[in-house]
Amino acid sequence: MDGRAVRGEGRGPGWGAEADLVVVGSGVAGLTAALDAAAAGLRVVVITKDAVDDGSTRWAQGGVAVVLGDVPGDSVDAHVADTLAAGGGLCDAAAVASIIADGPGAVARLRARGARFDGPAGRPDRTREGGHSAFRVVHAGGDATGAEIERALVAAATDRRLALLTGHVAVDVLLAGGAVTGLAVLDDLCRPGVLHAPAVLLATGGYGQLYSSTTNPGTATGDGIALALRAGASAADLEFVQFHPTVLYTGPAVGRRPLVTEAVRGEGAVLLDRAGRRFMAGVHPLADLAPRDVVAAAITRTLVASGADCVYLDARALDGFARRFPTVHAACRAAGIDPVREPIPVTPAAHYSCGGVVTDLAGRTAVPGLWAAGEVARTGLHGANRLASNSLLEGLVMGERAARSVVASVQEGHLHATSLHEGGLAATPWPVATRAVVQRAMSAAAGIGRDAAGLAAASDAVEAATGLAEPRDRAGVEDAALTLLAQAVLAAAGTRTESRGCHVRTDHPERDDLWQGESLEVVLDATGRPAVRAAAAVAA
Ligand code: SIN
Repeated sequence: MDGRAVRGEGRGPGWGAEADLVVVGSGVAGLTAALDAAAAGLRVVVITKDAVDDGSTRWAQGGVAVVLGDVPGDSVDAHVADTLAAGGGLCDAAAVASIIADGPGAVARLRARGARFDGPAGRPDRTREGGHSAFRVVHAGGDATGAEIERALVAAATDRRLALLTGHVAVDVLLAGGAVTGLAVLDDLCRPGVLHAPAVLLATGGYGQLYSSTTNPGTATGDGIALALRAGASAADLEFVQFHPTVLYTGPAVGRRPLVTEAVRGEGAVLLDRAGRRFMAGVHPLADLAPRDVVAAAITRTLVASGADCVYLDARALDGFARRFPTVHAACRAAGIDPVREPIPVTPAAHYSCGGVVTDLAGRTAVPGLWAAGEVARTGLHGANRLASNSLLEGLVMGERAARSVVASVQEGHLHATSLHEGGLAATPWPVATRAVVQRAMSAAAGIGRDAAGLAAASDAVEAATGLAEPRDRAGVEDAALTLLAQAVLAAAGTRTESRGCHVRTDHPERDDLWQGESLEVVLDATGRPAVRAAAAVAA
């Protein structure tokens, strides 16, 4: 099947198409999986809400953390140890070892697909980021790694004539007898339709748009988690929303903010308070290169103590800033800042969802026929705080694995035969709150530094702004997903009465051993509301 076959002529309400696998999302995990599944002979359709490259992948700057075996003193074991240390006692050690071990092969296959990293082909340049004990992060275009990966994957998808439906939003996973039979969607003219398929892979990214200020694009509205929860899968670790320590501060603003990659600190830049004092030195042995949660929390404390709006990243001692960090340099210059001559004003902003849809190490959820890979999924790699540049790595590795798993299931005849029912939109209206209210409530109460009273007030504010509505367009679908995610994150954050990783509770400021190794799982109860339960060993 190619794109033209799916688009067809004369679509009306209830249009349909058939595939073996529908992939929702066209970032690193989605396109990797789609290309591999298509290469294995499956009929694959990829849907994406916006343009093909408008997801989170293209905005990733720093790089891909991977041990290629040529950096003295570095090893896969060291990468595993750094990941576990950053994850605050909540990683699944087996997942960490397995995913990191597959990194070098996945990066080699990405390069074979056309992605070009900086430095000589046989020995790419390496940088360092927070929490890494070695220079092991490969990068492209200086600080445009995600853009290069997306370019290469989109080019490969175009060469293969992969069926890519842009401007399509997923509304509901369709089930029969508890197994996937397809996906209800709205097309770019808001017409409902069905993609009939026995396998659906969610690769929709995270939910940074829950917050007013985020590094994520407008597409990051938690759709995949909402789809999975409604289909009967579970999610876990949702309270661990990672805030990137350094986004460019240009005054109060809502929406996607320009990232200032951690690699700037990896190459020697340091954080200063408004009096010009370094404040990371006594906070962690790695100082400015501490794991991300530690740096973001220290910046937040500095801002609260001083009443300042931002801190500063001093990169003036770095050689060749514009060449090494062209994306950051351009963003600074556009804001009237010259990072070669003056410190860059920065603040933390919502960046990454460490939790997500619970999957096994093949990307399978608990729902037959439903897979998830990339940021939308919770494999156990990240625990309470993701190590920098492990996200593109996970997207590559888990995209490949999900494809292998789907292909095996199709070939072995394990998947449900599709039933060609018509229509597609859920008849039941969903709870939908006003997006601006959700973002304000989450930013005020569920950022870095939460307490019981604030979380309860945010829940009340979301509740008060919620009504029932049928999803008739992309915004309606996204707002319903954001509403569900807000309820789930607030419930999980209220339940975890300790501070760990990127979950910082001001009323429970210490890590509590009672919570050691304890994940919180979220499912929907009979009324469709998120219910939180403790689950020491979360498994799909
Ligand atoms: C960064 O470049 O600082 C972000 C990379 C990441 O999120 O891992």
